Amino acid sequence: ELSPIDKAKFVAAKRAVDFVEDGMRVGLGTGSTAAWMVRCLGELVRDDGLKIRGVPTSTRTAELARGVGIEVITLDEAKWLDLTIDGADEFDADLNLIKGGGGALLQEKIVATASDQMVVIADIGKEVETLGAFPLPVEVIPFGWQTTKSLIEELLISMDVLGREARLRMNGASPFVTDEGNYILDLHLGRIGNAQQLSLAMNQMPGVVENGLFIDICDVVVLGYGDGRVETRD
Ligand code: A5P
Repeated sequence: ELSPIDKAKFVAAKRAVDFVEDGMRVGLGTGSTAAWMVRCLGELVRDDGLKIRGVPTSTRTAELARGVGIEVITLDEAKWLDLTIDGADEFDADLNLIKGGGGALLQEKIVATASDQMVVIADIGKEVETLGAFPLPVEVIPFGWQTTKSLIEELLISMDVLGREARLRMNGASPFVTDEGNYILDLHLGRIGNAQQLSLAMNQMPGVVENGLFIDICDVVVLGYGDGRVETRD
C-alpha cells in the first residue's frame, strides 16, 4: 500500500508514459518520481513490446533503466530526443522549475534542452506561486569553490534577493560530488523575483557550471494527487 505522496508520484508517472510512442528516443529523469516513470516504461517494454531507447540523466537512472529492460544509449548516440520525462522540486504557473534536489541538474538540463518536449511529473506539493522556497542547487567546479560561493553571495546582494545563504551540499563528512565530478551549492533564497535574470547572471560566473532553474524548458506538468487524481498543466 503506497503512502499518499508515493501514490501521487506514481499516478503522475503512469499518466506521463502515455506521451511515449513506439520508436521514440526518451530522456529519463532522476529522482523518486522519475524512478516510478522508468519502472512504468520498463513494464511497457516487457509486456507490450514498446520499442524505445532511453537516455538517462544520472548513473542512478541508468542502472534502474537497464534493470527494468530499457535499451540505454548516450545523448551523443541519440543526438536529439523526442521527449524527456523528469521530476522537479518546484514548478510555478509559467511552468518554470527548480530542479537538482537529487544532484543531477546538469545532465537533466542538457537532456531536457535537447528534447522536442519536456514533460514534468510532480506531486501537488511541488506547485508554488513563486520559485525559491526550495533551496536552489548550483553546480560549481571544485577548484576555488569558496571564491565562487562568495561571488554568488555578492550577486544575490546586488540583485536584492531575499535569502542569501549558500551552503555546500555534503555527503556525510565530505562534499557531495555530482556525476560530472563537481560540487553543489544550495542557495536558500526564499523567493526568487526574477528567475531568468538570476539564472543568466550566475551562469556568467567562471566557476559556475549550471544552476537548477529551468526557464522556458518544460512544456507540460502532469500533476498527481494523493487520492489518485491527475491533472495536466500546459
Ligand atoms: C534530481 O536532480 C532532481 O532534479 C529531481 O528531479 C527532483 O529533485 C525531484 O525529485 P523527486 O521526484 O524525488 O522529488
